[in-house]
Amino acid sequence: MSGTSLDGLDVALCRCEGHGTQLQTTLEHFATLPYSAEFRQRLRAISQPTVALQDVTVLNAEVARQHAEMVLVCLQSWQVAAAEVDLIASHGQTIWHAPRHQHRQADFPHHATLQIGDGDHLAALTGIITVADFRQKHVAHGFEGAPLAGYADQLLFSSPTENRLLLNLGGIANFTYLPARPTAGLPLTTDTGPGNTLLDAVTRQHFPGREYDENGAIAGSGTVHPALLRELLSHPFFAAPLPKTTGPELFGPDYLHEAQIKTGTTSLPPADVLATLVELTATGVATAVQQCLTEAENTDVACYVSGGGSHNGALLHALQRHLLTARFAPIDALGIPADAKEAVLFAVLANETVAGTPGISLGKICLP
Ligand SMILES: Nc1ncnc2c1ncn2[C@@H]1O[C@H](COP(=O)(O)OP(=O)(O)OP(=O)(O)O)[C@@H](O)[C@H]1O
Ligand SMILES: [Mg+2]
Repeated sequence: MSGTSLDGLDVALCRCEGHGTQLQTTLEHFATLPYSAEFRQRLRAISQPTVALQDVTVLNAEVARQHAEMVLVCLQSWQVAAAEVDLIASHGQTIWHAPRHQHRQADFPHHATLQIGDGDHLAALTGIITVADFRQKHVAHGFEGAPLAGYADQLLFSSPTENRLLLNLGGIANFTYLPARPTAGLPLTTDTGPGNTLLDAVTRQHFPGREYDENGAIAGSGTVHPALLRELLSHPFFAAPLPKTTGPELFGPDYLHEAQIKTGTTSLPPADVLATLVELTATGVATAVQQCLTEAENTDVACYVSGGGSHNGALLHALQRHLLTARFAPIDALGIPADAKEAVLFAVLANETVAGTPGISLGKICLP
């Protein structure tokens, strides 16, 4: 898994037995292999509305090669032979996510999304059958291509006795809600707005050499600017009905800059900007939670947090303040480390695809 934060590749070695409701998954090894600063910069440069087609073409192959190399490095350090691995599940790197309300091409009223890092390259370079490109079928069926977590979250984490909110704080924040009461069909899973993406951008801009605000320490030292927060929250995304998806295309530096210009806060101290952005992420999550849960569920829900944002103390603090009655715990409490969760979900999806589970055949099967 490699998400919108562009921090690197998460590699989870999972053992899956059975499928569907019979599925047993255990995580055997996990590592995050960071991208180099230069590679990160090139990925960031390519994730723009207009870019050189040559750069996209080259990076498509290069991302796949990098990922294949990283997988092989992990297997070697874990002393696992490639021949022992049945499948790679590869998400690829999203370079543009364009639900129809975002791309606004009036003559094409459908969603679109693009991940690079071609699966055939991974399969050929590792010798391991690779399931890749999970989002296109979801889009073809009229959905937004994200978030895809719901089905696997339900398989791995649902409980008959506890209302569970699985909150993933990646570049974008999203959650799956698994009520204890029996429900028909797939659970609700939705993006809620920015997670770390803007926090990272502001940190990089004002604190050269830092990729993120460690533990939210800088944000924690700042003060929320109410007018800037109000302006940021006035974006129609926050009032739109659930489920919905978004990406850094929308919640990028331009969105923040325009709000700062409108509110006369372009010279606000960076710590106050970060504090305001932490509040924005937490408010986005809380707003969506309140839209989704009944009043009774709101007072009786356990919130299991995953993703890099689960290491941001300022953000967790703000979330707890917004969702006072929720019991917060890292997803580790349910047996999967917070940083590994998204990668495990894709391993589960690939397993369902090769098992032929009806309706869950996401991804393309690439043979070596
Ligand atoms: N110790 C930490 N303190 C604060 N923030 C952290 C810390 N560690 C990681 N992060 C944040 O988490 C981000 C990486 O999170 P993660 O890998 O879950 O996101 P992602 O790659 O966008 O994944 P996805 O799209 O799958 O959710 C970093 O960019 C950073 O903002
Ligand atoms: Mg990541």
